[in-house]
Amino acid sequence: MQLDELYRRVIMDHYKNPRNRGTMDEDSVTVNLNNPTCGDRIQLQLRVEDGVVKQAKYTGEGCSISMSSASMMTDAIRGKTLDEALGLAEKFSALMQGQPVEFEEYEDLEALSGVSKFPARIKCATLAWNALRKGIEAGRQG
Ligand code: FES
Ligand code: FES
Repeated sequence: MQLDELYRRVIMDHYKNPRNRGTMDEDSVTVNLNNPTCGDRIQLQLRVEDGVVKQAKYTGEGCSISMSSASMMTDAIRGKTLDEALGLAEKFSALMQGQPVEFEEYEDLEALSGVSKFPARIKCATLAWNALRKGIEAGRQG
């Protein structure tokens, strides 16, 4: 697939130097999800206190798009309320629909905009965000 060179560099940086990759013991929510089209999987852990995401960690195996997306997502939601995190998930969906979205909060996310032209890859990029949506639901109940 063809992505803008700068965007490619941002994506590969998150893939090779993942932020927040790993696990934690003091999580409030753990979500396991896989991408049915390829079988790749992610585990997302959130530590939520007073409705705020204090920490987010992930592990899993997947392509560079899915893992870099998880790296960016976990970085972007840290310190956000559950509502703000959901708002970011909505914005990311709009980005995947090809809409011109700007992430003032976390510009690296814009590097994934080119993925919107490749339907199969959209599933890769949204895996982590779908896990987040589940985690937010669970976090609200807990
Ligand atoms: Fe391009 Fe997997 S990241 S094919
Ligand atoms: Fe499996 Fe991208 S190819 S998540």
